[in-house]
Amino acid sequence: MKKKVLSMLLAASMVMAALVGCGGNDAAPAATNDSSAAPADSAAPADSAAPAASTGKKVGVSMPTKDLQRWNQDGANMQQQLEAAGYEVDLQYASNSEETQVSQIENMINSGCSVLVIAAIEANSLSTVLEGAKSAGIPVIAYDRLIMNTDAINYYATFDNYKVGATQAKYIVDTLDLDNAAGPFNMEVTAGDPGDNNAPFFYNGAMDTLKPYIDAGKIVIPSGQVDFATVGTQKWSTEAAQARMENILSSNYADGTQLDICLCSNDSTSLGVQNALAANYTGNYPIVTGQDCDIANVKNMLAGKQSMSVFKDTRTLAAQVVKMVGQILSGEEVEVNDTTTYDNGTGVIPSFLCEPVFADANNYKELLIDSGYYTEADLQ
Ligand code: BGC
Repeated sequence: MKKKVLSMLLAASMVMAALVGCGGNDAAPAATNDSSAAPADSAAPADSAAPAASTGKKVGVSMPTKDLQRWNQDGANMQQQLEAAGYEVDLQYASNSEETQVSQIENMINSGCSVLVIAAIEANSLSTVLEGAKSAGIPVIAYDRLIMNTDAINYYATFDNYKVGATQAKYIVDTLDLDNAAGPFNMEVTAGDPGDNNAPFFYNGAMDTLKPYIDAGKIVIPSGQVDFATVGTQKWSTEAAQARMENILSSNYADGTQLDICLCSNDSTSLGVQNALAANYTGNYPIVTGQDCDIANVKNMLAGKQSMSVFKDTRTLAAQVVKMVGQILSGEEVEVNDTTTYDNGTGVIPSFLCEPVFADANNYKELLIDSGYYTEADLQ
C-alpha cells in the first residue's frame, strides 16, 4: 500500500515536472529530487511517461562523468524516473574517457537494451559504436549534448542552449545598463569544451547579444582573446579555466586595470575563474556568470562571488526523455518542439528543448528550495 502511494505520488510529480518544466517559462517544477522518494523496488509505471510497451524493457543511460554535479543528478533522475515507469535501467558513467564511453555503449547494445540515452563526452567520437546500435535496430536519444556525424541518432532532448548564453549576456546588459552607460567596460570570456556541441551555442547566444555593445566600444576585451577557439576550456575543466584566467590577470590586470565582466559559459569554468580572481585580483569584483546552479556555485552566489547562474532543471529534462522513450517504444508520435536548429551533420535531429531560467541570489529560494531541487542544508 505504501509502495502504491509512493508510486502514485511520484507519477503525479512527474506529470507536473513535465508540464511546468519544459517548453514554458515557469521555473518551479513540482517533482522531487530526492531519490529516496522512489526506491527502485517501489517503481510502477507513470501514466504520463510510460505507455504500456515499457514494462520490463531495458534502457541504457550513458553519462559522461561523475566529476560534475549535474551529471550525477541527471543520471539519478533518469534512473529514478525510468524505474518508476517500469523499465530496467543500465546507467553508466564514463569518467570523461571517450574509450570508456564507447565500450559501455557497446555493452549496452550487446546486453539487449531497447533504447539508448547518451550524453556524449565528445560529440564526434561515437559514430562507429552507434552504427552497431543502428544495425541492431536500437533507437538512440542524444541527451543534453548532440552527437555529431552519425545517422544513428533518432531524437535530441536538451535545454535551449543558445538561450542559456543569451540569458547570461542579458544579465550583463541589464546590470551595467549598457543601453545608457558609456563604458567602456572590460570583459574576459571563458567558454566551454570545443568537443561539446553545446559550447558554441552558449558562446554564440552570449556573444550575439553582446555584439552591439562590443561594436560600439562599450565593452572591450583587454586580453584580445575573444574567438571561440581561443576562449574554450577542454572538458569544461575548472583547473584549466583557472590557469587561463590567472595568465590573463597577470598579463592584463596586474597594473590595477579594472575587470568588469567575466562571461563564463558554465559553473565549472566559472569556479576556476572565481579561484583565479580570489588569488590574483584586487580591483572591484566583476560580474561573473555561470550555468547549472551547482551547489558550490549557488553558495558562491550567496557569498557574492558569482553574480548569476542559469538554472536547467535536470528533473524536467529527465521527465521529457522518459516520455520520449515511452513514445518510441509504443510507436506513438514522439513529442518534439524544434525541427530546425540541431543539424548533426547528417540532417536535422528532431529535438525537444526545455527552457533555461535565470537564477541569482534574489530568486534562488523560489527556484531551487521551494521546488525541492535543493534543501537549505545543501547550501550551508
Ligand atoms: C551542459 C552544461 C554543463 C557542461 C559541463 C554541457 O554540455 O549542457 O550544463 O555545464 O556540459 O558539464
